Amino acid sequence: MVQSSDIVEAHGLKFQLMLSEAAIAQRVREMALELQRDYADKKPLLLGLLNGAFIFAADLVRQCTFPLEISFVRVSSYDGLQSSGRLTTHFGPDLELRGRHVLLVEDIIDSGQTLHQFLPQLQSLQPASLRVAVLLVKPEALECEVPLDYVGFEIPNKFVIGYGLDYDGLGRNLPGIYQLKE
Ligand code: IMP
Ligand code: MG
Repeated sequence: MVQSSDIVEAHGLKFQLMLSEAAIAQRVREMALELQRDYADKKPLLLGLLNGAFIFAADLVRQCTFPLEISFVRVSSYDGLQSSGRLTTHFGPDLELRGRHVLLVEDIIDSGQTLHQFLPQLQSLQPASLRVAVLLVKPEALECEVPLDYVGFEIPNKFVIGYGLDYDGLGRNLPGIYQLKE
């Protein structure tokens, strides 16, 4: 990872700063206020999707001043031959969603396939409510209907890294978000 001001490099590709650390922090604070309005008396269970959402989830919960719980779940493609194959889900050992107000926390929605498959799995565990908070959405890339209850930023259909998002393992630790340069 080579870094110089607004341009970073990962695996030989150049990425240009799109959202600064300060801009992200400001939007995360606003999202926490929206959550405060809807969840202050509900003691929600925030469920972060690993790996990408770990930084967004960590920043978001620290801006929330009401009681909540946080847990993480990992989903991966079941069939290595198909990018949109069946999902396998790796829950923590004692995750109980029944009757809870569950808020899924995701880094980015691209095609929407992941959540399109994963949300029904969560719904079958009978939460009291189920909503989605996502930092980034690429509206032009959406292929399926996904409920987007809390959205940070709508961004162009270009690959991005930083703030938890990676390109083949690199870039997750960048404080800002960078988009692939043409
Ligand atoms: P979807 O199933 O197509 O909506 O893709 C969702 C997942 O793909 C995200 O949780 C990310 O892990 C990954 N992803 C999609 N777009 C990007 C990107 O621009 N940069 C890094 N990861 C991405
Ligand atoms: Mg993700």
